Amino acid sequence: MDHESALRRLTQELLDCIASGDWEKYCQLCDPSLTCFEPEAVGNLVQGLDFHRFYFDLLKDQQHQSQTTITQPHVRVMGQVAVVAYVRLIQKCGPPEMKPALTTEAYEETRIWRLEADRWIHVHFHRSPARTWEP
Ligand code: GLY
Repeated sequence: MDHESALRRLTQELLDCIASGDWEKYCQLCDPSLTCFEPEAVGNLVQGLDFHRFYFDLLKDQQHQSQTTITQPHVRVMGQVAVVAYVRLIQKCGPPEMKPALTTEAYEETRIWRLEADRWIHVHFHRSPARTWEP
């Protein structure tokens, strides 16, 4: 499989394991020193995996179904480093007491991967809520 196809597949696997709460798989795909900016970190640069584990543990106790779709993917390989940029759509159906029970969220994401031996490892990401621009 060429690098571009492999990175698309790995990125979808990563998002799917986040959605299903598969912490072991997440750790296999990510470098232990993973860094990120994401809305949950309220403007702080997060380093390491502990911050993310909190959400995986929370998800275990929640009853909801979700589907994650990558739209507009762009993969750029530069030697041992790759940038994968896309919009992530998350369709969620929560328990009936959750209002609204059915939602769709959109995020702009950039994920950086590093090639180690013959394996791509996730090393950094940036996630922002997709929004419209108003002057
Ligand atoms: N919040 C974990 C991730 O998007 O990788």
